[in-house]
Amino acid sequence: MVGGTSLRGEVSVVGAKNSALKLMAGSLLAVGRTRLTNVPAIVDVTIMAELLRRLGCTVDYDADAGVVELDVPDTIQHQADYELVRALRASICVLGPLVARCGRADVAVPGGDAIGSRGLDMHAAGLETLGATVRVNHGYLIAEAPGGLHGGDIRLDFPSVGATENILMAAVLAKGKTRVTNAAREPEICDIAAFLCEMGAQIEGAGTSVIDVEGVSSLEAVTHEVVPDRIAAGTWAFAAATTGGDVEVVGAAPAHLRPALNLLAGAGSEITETDRGFRVTTLGRRSAFDVATLPYPGFPTDLQPFALVYNAVAQGSAMVTENVFEARFRTVQELARLGAEARVDGHHVMLHGVQRLSGAPVQASDIRSGAALVIAGLVADGVTTVGRASHIDRGYAGFAEALRGLGADVTREPDEEPFL
Ligand code: UD1
Repeated sequence: MVGGTSLRGEVSVVGAKNSALKLMAGSLLAVGRTRLTNVPAIVDVTIMAELLRRLGCTVDYDADAGVVELDVPDTIQHQADYELVRALRASICVLGPLVARCGRADVAVPGGDAIGSRGLDMHAAGLETLGATVRVNHGYLIAEAPGGLHGGDIRLDFPSVGATENILMAAVLAKGKTRVTNAAREPEICDIAAFLCEMGAQIEGAGTSVIDVEGVSSLEAVTHEVVPDRIAAGTWAFAAATTGGDVEVVGAAPAHLRPALNLLAGAGSEITETDRGFRVTTLGRRSAFDVATLPYPGFPTDLQPFALVYNAVAQGSAMVTENVFEARFRTVQELARLGAEARVDGHHVMLHGVQRLSGAPVQASDIRSGAALVIAGLVADGVTTVGRASHIDRGYAGFAEALRGLGADVTREPDEEPFL
C-alpha cells in the first residue's frame, strides 16, 4: 500500500469471529438444524465448518449471506484432528460440547496464532470438577466422562475466555448446578450464554464474574444472530484516528468498546454514537496515550497492536502494557522497520511518536498484527508491503476492499500460503 491518505467514509462490521466460532461449536449440543446469521466471511469459519463436518455434521456456509446452517446428527464423532486444530486454535472450544454430548472428547493440542504461551490448564481443571478425567496422550487432550458430567464449583485463576466457554458448554448438559467464579465477562460470553438459553439451557449471571448454570437433559437447535465484532469495530476506530480520518463504523456496538473509544476521545478524536454504530472524526495530530490491556471490560488485548501503531505516530510519548498474553509484541519489531521509535521492556512498550513512518516490507505474525501493520503502512511515506497477509483473512472479510472504500491506496496480492 502507499501511505498518506486519511480514511473517510463508512465501513460495516458484521458478527464477531470469536463468537461465531464458539456458537458453531455450541451447536453440537443439540441434535437438529442450527442456523447462525451475521456470520463473518472469514477463513476461520471455513476451518471450523470443516472440523464440524469431520465430526459428522452437515454444514452449509454461505459466506456472502453471512449464514451458517449446521445439521447435527444423533451420533457424532468425538475426535478433532491435529490438522484442523493446528490451523485454528479456537477449535479447542469443541472440547466442552463434545464431552457433554459424547462422554468423550479427543481434541488435538492446538497451535494457531503465534502469541505467547496459552495454557489449557483451566479448561482441563474445569472439566475435571464437572466429573471428567482429562489427560494428554499422543498430542491429544482427552476428556472422558462415560457416566455423564455433574455440576460443580469452579473458580478460575484468571478470567479466561476459552475456559469459561468450554465450562459453560459442558455444564449446560451436566446433572445439577455449576457455579463459575472469576468467569470471563466478554460480550462473546454473553452471546454464547444467550444462544444456549435460547436452546433451553438455564444460565444466570453471564456478563458478570459469577455464572450459575442449572443443567438440563437436552437442548434444541435454534436460529441465532452473532453479536457485532467489537474488535473489528475497534480496528476501524483506530484506523480512522491513526490516519486522521473521519469514518462511521456501521453495525458496531459502541457499548462493547468503551475503554478504547474513551481513550481515543481523550486524545483528540471526536467519537459520536450514531443510529447505526459510531463515528470517529479527527482534526489535527492526535495525542499519545498510555494503555494497559485487561480482561473485559478493560482495554482488549486484541486491540493492543493498533494502540502501538496509533502511538507510533501520535504527539508525545506513551507506554503500552500487555497484561493478558505474554510476548504479544511481535508488531514492535516490524514497526521499528518502518521507523517507529519503540522499545520493549518486559510486558511494556515505550513509544515516542514520530511525524510519519517510512514504508518498507514487513511481516504479519497474527491476525491483529497484520491488520495493524496495514494501518501503519497508511501513515508511512512510500510503499509498505505486509507479508503473510493471509493472517488478516482469518479475522477480516475483504479488509483491502474496505480500506479502498475509505480512500486508501491498498492492493491485495494472492495468498502465499493459504491455511486450508
Ligand atoms: C480469546 C480470543 C483472543 C483474545 C483472548 C483474550 C478467541 C478465539 N480468541 O482467546 O482473540 O485475545 O480471548 O481476550 O476467542 N490461560 C491459561 N490457562 C488456560 C487458559 C488460558 O493460562 O487454561 C491464559 C492464556 O495463556 C492467556 C490468558 O490466560 O495468557 C488469556 O487467555 P484466554 O482468555 O483463555 O484467551 P483465549 O480464549 O485463548
